[in-house]
Amino acid sequence: LASVEVDVSSLEPGMSLTVKWRGKPVFIRNRTPEEIEASKTVPVSELKDPIARNANLDAAAEATDTARSAGEGKENWLVMVGVCTHLGCIPLGTSGEYNGWFCPCHGSVYDTSGRIRKGPAPENMHIPVFAFTSDTVIKVG
Ligand code: FES
Repeated sequence: LASVEVDVSSLEPGMSLTVKWRGKPVFIRNRTPEEIEASKTVPVSELKDPIARNANLDAAAEATDTARSAGEGKENWLVMVGVCTHLGCIPLGTSGEYNGWFCPCHGSVYDTSGRIRKGPAPENMHIPVFAFTSDTVIKVG
């Protein structure tokens, strides 16, 4: 499928779901205020990968928390391709030192906006093209 529509109305803060898009898992998470705050407080200069890797933004956009999220006013929503940028394993959610994602294959640690913080992965997990088609439906692709 070129695109997939996902009803996220049942996702309370702190809940995630995974959909398949173009053969890959896409993680959709309704982040808690604590998760957003933890990500926001990190200066971009401290990040291993300072690029947002967000297909909805300019390719040079910085990896701020807002740029990784669904944007102003929808910062609780994180939509990303759930594939480790090292060798393609699927990371585990709400895991690891930053309570984001942890890749069990070789120990890459991602934060609560899916940015790589430790381990061998070179890039933040990628954000696919997506848009809200209503308050509760996200179209990926
Ligand atoms: Fe994730 Fe190697 S594939 S750390």
